[in-house]
Amino acid sequence: MTHAVCPGSFDPPTLGHLDVIGRAAGLFDRLTVAVLVNPDKKGMFGIDERLELLRETTAQWPNVTADSFHGLLVDYCAANGIAAIVKGIRAVSDFDYELQMAQMNHGLTGVETLFMPTSPAYSFVSSSLVKQVASYGGDVAHLLPDVVAAALADKINSTGR
Ligand code: PNS
Repeated sequence: MTHAVCPGSFDPPTLGHLDVIGRAAGLFDRLTVAVLVNPDKKGMFGIDERLELLRETTAQWPNVTADSFHGLLVDYCAANGIAAIVKGIRAVSDFDYELQMAQMNHGLTGVETLFMPTSPAYSFVSSSLVKQVASYGGDVAHLLPDVVAAALADKINSTGR
């Protein structure tokens, strides 16, 4: 059985993430979307909120599950029998750091990284930009799954961010 992982912060998941996840789900028997728990970086959404949003928005793909992980991604892959990491590449600017991480991860355990070009419709979309625009009242609903757009609006209304 082929098992791959899409790792990330997913704070929150965007349609760009979902585009890559859905296409990767078609290439592997099983795909885990893994949210990094980073104690040094408190996000807008808690880890449980991100996992719930990912579960709701990936429910259409029965071979996709959502999970969280601490520490090194390669250790998570080894512990879960994951042979491939799938990363979306939006632009050349993503490539430098992604290549560095892919080569580091391969050197550590031999895990492979596959780069998937994002759909051009989402090449400018990032969670951080979406949060920033939304926090100043901009409309980003067309860049997010409906449930995420609603959750982001709630978050901004409740925290004033
Ligand atoms: O969505 P992001 O924040 O771009 O995701 C980055 C992520 C989580 C994929 C990356 O930071 C990562 O793999 N972190 C886990 C820690 C680790 O393995 N670091 C060494 C990378 S070579």
